[in-house]
Amino acid sequence: MKKNLLSGVKPTGRPHIGNYFGAMKQFVDAQTLGQYDCHLFIADYHALNLIQDADQMRELTLDLVLDYLAIGLDPKKSIIFKQSDVPAHTELAWIFDTIVTMPYLERAHAFKDAEAKSKEINVGTFNYPVLMAADILLYDTDVVPVGQDQKQHVEYARDIALKFNHIFKSDTFKLPEPLILESVATVPGIDGRKMSKSYNNTIPLFASREEIQKTVMSIVTDSNGPEAGGVPANVYAIHKLFRSEGDLKALYETNKGKYKILKEALIEDTDTFIKPLRERREKLVGAVKNVVKVLEEGAKAANEKASVKLIEVKKAIGVL
Ligand code: ADP
Ligand code: TRP
Repeated sequence: MKKNLLSGVKPTGRPHIGNYFGAMKQFVDAQTLGQYDCHLFIADYHALNLIQDADQMRELTLDLVLDYLAIGLDPKKSIIFKQSDVPAHTELAWIFDTIVTMPYLERAHAFKDAEAKSKEINVGTFNYPVLMAADILLYDTDVVPVGQDQKQHVEYARDIALKFNHIFKSDTFKLPEPLILESVATVPGIDGRKMSKSYNNTIPLFASREEIQKTVMSIVTDSNGPEAGGVPANVYAIHKLFRSEGDLKALYETNKGKYKILKEALIEDTDTFIKPLRERREKLVGAVKNVVKVLEEGAKAANEKASVKLIEVKKAIGVL
């Protein structure tokens, strides 16, 4: 039997190249390799912590399916579905809620960050890792391709699996492993911090040429800092995604201190990479019927698997 791979992305806005290199590319590579049964979903219930407008939620969800298809995910090869279409996720999350403690969830990085920013945190944000553990554990997942920022969440899923198995004297859940590629674990944004939708420092994955130009030109450079040698660190760090370090060494050496030329080279390389993805996505827009069908079929396949696991869980806890 093949191993199981599972990952999800929240429909919270346009994905960026950090999402792609850190996580989404691994989805496509795994599908191509054919080594895993791939389960790739849209984490709409997780996004509900942020997106609280029905029209926006619908639109962002359809957009993310188009993004998945445009990067090369194929519903014939991977199960592509929406979290809210599979009620077992939230049902299992409740069961986990009864064995997970509050101090344990208070230690989560994401919760601490939210706490530092605001006084009023909703229960969904607090419980986020519990729903994510349910997402992962329902499908006997072996590997979870994600960026570094999600590592702790996968560790939480492992802890919760172990705790459940121990309390209910069973081997119901497998222990998942994060799949994090070191070179792209945290892709930096145009200001050198982690690239993130919430920092406004992204290069969108399907950006137009004009957007690429504008964004790359606004990459922060600092000739007094570590760039004293004439190498703009923030430009170089992004450039590394598209070209080998050998190639770049020559380019950056020849053009020491010439930030405009280096940025122009980055614009070309970024556009060469993005163009085919952008064109594929443009062709898919308008095929809403297709998207609906992809989600319907994905929901059916995911529900079949998840309901078998949930019955096993219900037997283990004694409600069946
Ligand atoms: P964002 O932080 O931009 O809101 P998401 O939370 O939607 O991104 O993340 C979707 C996936 O992309 C996750 O697996 C996450 O770890 C990965 N990811 C997000 N930002 C980066 C980054 N800068 N570098 C590497 N991976 C990332
Ligand atoms: N928390 C992930 C993110 O912010 C999204 C997500 C939800 C996820 N459930 C998951 C990722 C299960 C991997 C596995 O990007």
